[in-house]
Amino acid sequence: MTAPFSTRVAPADAAAIADAVRILAAGGLVAFPTETVYGLGADATNGAAVARLYQAKGRPAFNPLIAHVADLAAARRLGRFSSNAARLAEAFWPGPLTLVLPKAADCVVADLATAGLDTIAVRVPNHAVARQISARLGRPVVAPSANRSGHVSPTTAAHVLADLSGRIDLIVDSGATAIGVESTIVACLGEPALLRPGGVPRDAIARVLEKPLANATRAATSADAAPRAPGMLASHYAPRTPLRLDAERVKEGEALLAFGGRLAPGAERAARVLNLSAASDLIEAAANLFSHLRTLDAAAAQAIAVMPIPHEGLGEAINDRLQRAAAPISRNLG
Ligand code: TXA
Ligand code: MG
Repeated sequence: MTAPFSTRVAPADAAAIADAVRILAAGGLVAFPTETVYGLGADATNGAAVARLYQAKGRPAFNPLIAHVADLAAARRLGRFSSNAARLAEAFWPGPLTLVLPKAADCVVADLATAGLDTIAVRVPNHAVARQISARLGRPVVAPSANRSGHVSPTTAAHVLADLSGRIDLIVDSGATAIGVESTIVACLGEPALLRPGGVPRDAIARVLEKPLANATRAATSADAAPRAPGMLASHYAPRTPLRLDAERVKEGEALLAFGGRLAPGAERAARVLNLSAASDLIEAAANLFSHLRTLDAAAAQAIAVMPIPHEGLGEAINDRLQRAAAPISRNLG
């Protein structure tokens, strides 16, 4: 069967950005870098383009998307900001924070992109390519992580190509993403609440709010009919090889995902060893996480043993993604 598209990969120069804008304006699909992971973009105002995006990812249409905009002024046209939401936006935008807000009355984003919810997820990425694309298009760009639904998120153009070749028009390549885990998602529909740990650590948010940040409960999202954080069902981000978390030693036939300067006993007989950060640096570990998971998944080991990762700072997001990757694949929605 011939692919419906031939997917072009272009270095992120002015010509590629102009092409990206042209393709998006015509209803096409473009993968582009953000500081967290690569996103798969569509014109947020074009319902048909959003439908094609769900199809290209193989993603159920009830899982809503994040609208990416160039600045706070553009975000204010999509959602209503409480004073806490405004404080968080001022503190962390542009950056790896997504805010879930009550949808503005005149919000231009297609209903399909918000899965019919009365809320909308918005973010201003800290990446010139992502912001320029939205600014020049003059519209918000919806962009889930640019992976097939249920796979780990892409941190390089090659990861995107491996998942979506022949299914999208263009990949704008600007190398590996800096942060490597997705944005932190905070619902600002009442008291701010954490929907997904990510690139901004929980304590940094708590400092700005001057109080602890609770985990979201169903009531915090007002999205009663839909799952609470729809894409956050347990088996998201799954590699094919089973993961064994908090491994104290490596068993026969396993590959090792290490952390820190001292490898777990048995590492010498591991099928393959990759270290998230030999220096025990959680920022470096986050940046390496998805790429190392992909590489070890390809090593055809019986399992991937994962050494314990501390829970502080970005460790919360890293452990969250590892737990999802370790969960049995029942529903893959991302
Ligand atoms: O870093 C990121 O956030 C990346 C880059 C590309 O920006 N994007 C990303 O998108 O991770 P995605 O679609 O893979 O994850 C977005 C998550 C999903 O779990 C979705 O269910 C949730 O955000 N979400 C979107 N809109 C929502 C809403 N209105 N209420 C609750 N959750 C929402
Ligand atoms: Mg995703």
